[in-house]
Amino acid sequence: MSIIQSLDATSYTDNTRYALERERIFKKQWWLLGPEHTVKERGDYLSDTVCGWPVFAIRGNDGELRAFHNICRHRGSTLLEEGQGRCRTIVCPYHAWGYKTDGTLSATPGFGHSDDFDPAQHNLFALRVACFRGMVFISLDDNGPAFSDWIKTLDELMTPFPGIDDMTYHGSFTVHGAANWKTYCDNTVEGYHLNAVHPRLATAVSTGSVTIQPYDNGELIAFHVDYGGDGAALRGNLGLWAYRFPGFQIAISANAFKIERVEPTGIGSLRSMNWAWYQNLDDAAIKDSFEWSETVVREDIGICEKVQRNLDNGIYTSGPLSPDQEGNVARFQQVVRTTLDGE
Ligand SMILES: [Fe+2]
Repeated sequence: MSIIQSLDATSYTDNTRYALERERIFKKQWWLLGPEHTVKERGDYLSDTVCGWPVFAIRGNDGELRAFHNICRHRGSTLLEEGQGRCRTIVCPYHAWGYKTDGTLSATPGFGHSDDFDPAQHNLFALRVACFRGMVFISLDDNGPAFSDWIKTLDELMTPFPGIDDMTYHGSFTVHGAANWKTYCDNTVEGYHLNAVHPRLATAVSTGSVTIQPYDNGELIAFHVDYGGDGAALRGNLGLWAYRFPGFQIAISANAFKIERVEPTGIGSLRSMNWAWYQNLDDAAIKDSFEWSETVVREDIGICEKVQRNLDNGIYTSGPLSPDQEGNVARFQQVVRTTLDGE
């Protein structure tokens, strides 16, 4: 078998490539916005910046969940502060233009009248939104994949496991990293680094009992995990870790459910946002499991930063991918190539 070389370093550093990724990957794909419980009641909203775009989802007065760009159609101000909240109307902090929860422009105080100005042409920019198993996903471009197609295989893999509704929400954590988003995905789809980077996790997973399986032409990589040691005590015996291109991850077991959005915040920076639910564990075990998940993310981002430093410095261009251990890195990188270049 011939050796496949990793993506060229310039893929992680070149601004032209990054601009292409924004148009062809980040804009078109689906992104986890957050847990659906944050937008349960009418008027509840969840506002965040996703891949650099300020967006929010809001439960309308009619009970419908919608998502919009967080942009006033007047002078472009951001409308809602980041985070969770509740409102009856969305009022712009700049000139107090008001929007209904369905995105229609409803108030332009003091603006004046002109036949040229049609408020109906100045409603909020809508996004696609999808609710799935207690999570909210958004997509910025109507021309990307349908959510039902995007999630189908992962949905099937998740079916044997308990879901968010079975568990109690515990909390979230966020980790920032100084590395291109792809370094994290490269790392996520292989188990080769487990022993060196994650000492505790390596002892918690039974030797030889992780099966890594690609699906959906490499856009979905699943780790079917058999836990041992304290991993089994905390997580039950069987687990599923999965990465869905471009930035959604889950780690599910009998007792825990963790979801993650990993996204670019710039060409050389990323953010990992995580939310976790548990069941059948006492408070000390939950605390331990939750802190452990953050440790794993920090370990991964730490190694990504060590890589990025050298992708930036012009000495290293590319390296050989292991035929035994890094086939899914090759698959992920091929998905990136195909999406960007149609190669
Ligand atoms: Fe890792």
